[in-house]
Formats: sequence, structure tokens, C-alpha cells
Amino acid sequence: MLSNQAGEGKRASLHGHWSSKMAFILAVTGSAVGLGNIWKFPYIAGQNGGGAFVLVYLVCTVVIGMPVMMSEILIGRRGRRNPVATMELLGKEEGSSGHWRWVGVLGVIGGSLILSYYSVIAGWTLGYVVKSASGVFVGASVEAVGAEFKNFVGDWRIIGFCHTLFMALTVFVVTRGVERGLEQAVRFMVPALLVLMLVLLGYSMNSGYFGQGLSFMFSIPESCMTLAPECPLTWDSVLAALGQAFFTLSIGMGAIMAYGAYLPEDTSITGASAAVVTADTGIAILAGLAIFPLVFANGLDPADGPGLVFQTLPLAFGQMAGGVFFSTIFFVLLSFAAWTSAIGLMEPAVAWVVEHFNKTRAQASLLIGGLIWFIGFGSVLSFNVLADTTFLAGTLFDNVDYLTSSIILPLGGLLITVFAGWVMCRNSTADELGSAGTLYKAWRVLVRFIAPIGILFILINAIT
Ligand code: PFF
Repeated sequence: MLSNQAGEGKRASLHGHWSSKMAFILAVTGSAVGLGNIWKFPYIAGQNGGGAFVLVYLVCTVVIGMPVMMSEILIGRRGRRNPVATMELLGKEEGSSGHWRWVGVLGVIGGSLILSYYSVIAGWTLGYVVKSASGVFVGASVEAVGAEFKNFVGDWRIIGFCHTLFMALTVFVVTRGVERGLEQAVRFMVPALLVLMLVLLGYSMNSGYFGQGLSFMFSIPESCMTLAPECPLTWDSVLAALGQAFFTLSIGMGAIMAYGAYLPEDTSITGASAAVVTADTGIAILAGLAIFPLVFANGLDPADGPGLVFQTLPLAFGQMAGGVFFSTIFFVLLSFAAWTSAIGLMEPAVAWVVEHFNKTRAQASLLIGGLIWFIGFGSVLSFNVLADTTFLAGTLFDNVDYLTSSIILPLGGLLITVFAGWVMCRNSTADELGSAGTLYKAWRVLVRFIAPIGILFILINAIT
């Protein structure tokens, strides 16, 4: 829970502080672990050919994701305000400019746009709780499960209703304050999700196709090792891997900055970041290992897209003893995971409206939530009425996803590394990270050179 004490002589957050390091780690893990790990990672790894993509994603996570996460937390804790005000304050304090607030604004826009479609997919998981409990998947064939999914997303009224329900649940929690209840929910949800993923993994290992799944996820084509032109990994896939690293860690848009604002002074930022990155990446890999063998065992296409998890997992549960129970619990947990992430997605915008426009938390949540709910109908309709209306990256949903994951998050991450590495002075960052030792030096090299150059290089190559 949050208390109202700041470190001595330092700024205090207007919204209070996390009571312990564990509370903070749980909240950030709750934000990081979500649909990105279980729904998105397998389907974009599938669309981008598997092994080589997974390797690039892992490298991006360690070399770029981890230093960006540490930067966001330290910036947040130093500013102790919403991301827009924090960037403005620190920009001025560090002798640069208040215009750095635009990084915060980019995050507010990015988070709101992500939530607009995130809520739609989270709505699907709610729908699948009901479907699982009704027993429709028991003994169902590949075709039947596929048809069930098509009919479900094909009706905009049903998925529109699920999206509305999920947004209402999110606004409800955000209205009451980020901290209340969140800690308990995450404390229970992450371990429970882990156990169910292990059950699925056990099932998958016995499917007879585990080797094929493993090889799809981890073997890298010869042509990519030698950087030959036949390598299936394009710059677009590399950007997708970078975007996925940002998306799944909830970085590049100020969400972690907003959480960092409530972090007590004596918590190790490096330790907390390492714990979150490990848990988040572990769950994504576990999801991949559980899903790909099932994809091959059932003759499905790994590049099938957003419906992948909603078609493979019910099929597996449908054949398992106790499947109705496991399947229902699984989708309940996934909805929970999405819920704790959705709260993180709304937090920068809500904190900003509260502080900047002097609104109450309830007013701000309703206002922002209503707007996001409305925008979300663009994604609801992308799977039915507007499924054939495509431009640039595909449907409206594809475009919002591309704009946010592949452009806004990497761009936000780039600006955050430039700010933490070049604008903030050595004393400020060393003060927050608590040492000027080897670990600090490594972080500084990553944040000043490797991460920004890497992001820029990938962005330029993919877009031109
Ligand atoms: N990290 C979340 C997931 O993997 O589902 C998505 C997310 C949550 C992104 C919060 C950004 C954020 F601020």
C-alpha cells in the first residue's frame, strides 16, 4: 500500500509511496505480464518465422529493454510527478528544457491508443471465460474451435459488449487509486498463471510435437547466421521484435515512470528491474513453449495472427481431463493479467489529467476511460464489419498496433535513453542508481550509446 513518506530531503509524490520493494516489484510485474506475453508474443513470433525473431527479441530485451526500464524508474522517482510533469521538471532542473514534457505527452497518447485495442482483446478473454465454463470446447475438433472463434469475433455487438465490460472494470479500479487491491491481485495472479502455464507445458510436452515447437522457437536458419539474403528475418521483423520487447515490458510510454514516482528512495532500481525483466521474459517463453507444439500437433498455421492463442489453447483444454475447470481458470487469470496491465496503461493519462487539469481521480478516469472506450470501437469493428477495409499496415486494429508498438514505444524509449544518458548529469543518475561502480558504468554505456543507436538504426532501416 502507499504511505505518505518520502526519503529524507527528497521530493515526495503527490500520490503517496509503495510500502515496500516487493509491492513495487509486484505492481510493475502486474503491468508487464499481460496479453503481451501470452497472446501477442506467440502470434508475432509465429508471423515472423520463429527462432531468429525470438533471438532478436531476447537481445533487445537485455540490451535495450533493461536499461530503458531502469531509466524510466529513476526518472520517475526523481521527478515524483506524472510523466509529463516529471519530464518537464527534470528537463529544466538538468539545465535543458521544459519541452521534454512532450516525451510524457507521447506516452499519454501511446498508452491510451494501446489500451483502446488492448481492452478489445481483453474482452475476448472475458468472453472465453464464459465459453470455457459452458463446456463448448470439450472434445471439440480443430474446425469447431476455429469456427467458434470466427463467429465470436465476427459479431461486433458481442465483442463490443466484452470490450465495454473490460473498460468498465478498468475504470473502476483506476478510480479507486492504483495501489488498492492491485498488490493482492498480482501476488496471487502471477504465481497462479505460472502454475497453469506449467500444466499446459506438461500437456504440450506429451503432444508428440514438443521437439518441433522447440525447434521453431529456437533454431535459427543457417542463412541468418551468415546474414545471407535468404534469411527470412526482415528489418520489419527486427522492428517488430524491438516493439514487442517494449510492449511486453510496458516501457517507452511512461507507465513505469508513473510507478517509479511512488518508489521509496532506498529500493534498488537495478534489482527491481532485473526481477521484472526475468519474470516477464520467462512467462513469454513459457507461453511459446506451451503453444507452438500444440499448433503443430493440430496442423494449425503459426502465422495465423491474433486468434492463435484463442484457437490452440481451448483445443488443448478440450482434450484434457478437468479441461473445463482448467480452461475457465486460465481465461480468468489471463483477464486478471490484462486488467493489471490495463491499469498501468491508463495511469500516465489519469495522473496527468488529475494534476494538470485539477480533476478528481474519478473524473479523470471516467473522462480518459470514456475516450479510450470510444476509440476501441475502431478495433472492435476491425474483426468484422471493417475486416476488409485495409490501408498501410492492414486493418484499423493493425494500424493502431503498428503505430504504437513499432513507432511510439521505440521512439519514446529512444528519447528516454537520450534524456537519462545525455541530459541528466552523472551525479543525478548515480545518485538514483545508488552507486558509480561497474554496474552503473555498464548501464551508462548501454543508455548513452548502445540503446539509442540500436533503436535508431532499427527504426530507420525498417521505415525506409
Ligand atoms: N506489458 C503489457 C503486456 O505485455 O500485456 C502491456 C502494457 C501494459 C504495455 C502497460 C504498456 C503499459 F504501459
